[in-house]
Amino acid sequence: MNATHDAQSEQTARWNGPAGRAWVEAQHVLDRLFTPFEDVLVEAVRATSVRSVLDVGCGTGSTTIAIARSLDGTGRCLGVDISEPMITLARARAEQERVPAAFVIADAQAYAFEPASVDMFVSRFGVMFFSDPVQAFANLRRAAREGAQLRLIAWRSAAENPFMTTAERAAAPLLPNLPPRRPDGPGQFAFADRDSVHAILNHSGWSGIDIRPIDVDCSLGEQDLSRYVTKLGPVGLLLQDADEATRARVAESIRGAYDPYVHGDQVRFTAACWMISASLLASRVSSG
Ligand SMILES: C[S@@+](CC[C@H](N)C(=O)[O-])C[C@H]1O[C@@H](n2cnc3c(N)ncnc32)[C@H](O)[C@@H]1O
Repeated sequence: MNATHDAQSEQTARWNGPAGRAWVEAQHVLDRLFTPFEDVLVEAVRATSVRSVLDVGCGTGSTTIAIARSLDGTGRCLGVDISEPMITLARARAEQERVPAAFVIADAQAYAFEPASVDMFVSRFGVMFFSDPVQAFANLRRAAREGAQLRLIAWRSAAENPFMTTAERAAAPLLPNLPPRRPDGPGQFAFADRDSVHAILNHSGWSGIDIRPIDVDCSLGEQDLSRYVTKLGPVGLLLQDADEATRARVAESIRGAYDPYVHGDQVRFTAACWMISASLLASRVSSG
């Protein structure tokens, strides 16, 4: 099997295994942390008259549900995600909140979406994990109606987001097995380079590409910090298999490294991201 296939299998296993579990367990913390991005995407939908929205890599469904609610029966929002446990939680939340959001468990890179059915594609940090991003965005394009739009939020570089790598820097001396971030593969910072993202969208048939930086203030309760750092990211994933003593020792070291971000009972940082927009011109609807 080729490297793309291996990378995709790795992502599928990750999001159906440890990463998916961690996101389900920390759903409340993460949703609070990333609410400002959800608001941006809901506003992007509200500013248009779109009727059919697809939330790519929707995870536990917060953004999908918020958009479905904002459409208020005048349209539909479908969330797609490769993670069965995350979609199970998303469906339960939609049912509990009585919001008619729909969900499908699928690889957005390959899934046979209904052709020409979507007016707007949104994503909150769900598009950086494709093993073949050009194939993925070409596949999404086939689901797009003429004039369809993309509104995607992705992280800029690790260097511009020091909060996001605090745990691994602090824990590195204690965790020699901590895998290094791979700059070229799928992952949190895979869309850091603006020119590469532009090329991906261009090669997959999208037009009107606009990629602009957005800096967004994020916060979480100080009482949630320990759960956040020991459950999520590379350190959290490694700690899932660690013994209790190691876990406690690492958690203590990591906690101190976050002091600059702690203000009373709040943890605050600025997220350095891209707002990625594109559209589908009529001339490119049926090509490829
Ligand atoms: C960082 S999480 C973001 C989840 C959600 N958008 C949110 O903001 O809470 C990335 C999501 O992308 C999903 N994902 C990764 N690769 C995918 C693929 N090929 N197709 C669909 N979803 C994928 C993961 O399962 C995960 O839920």
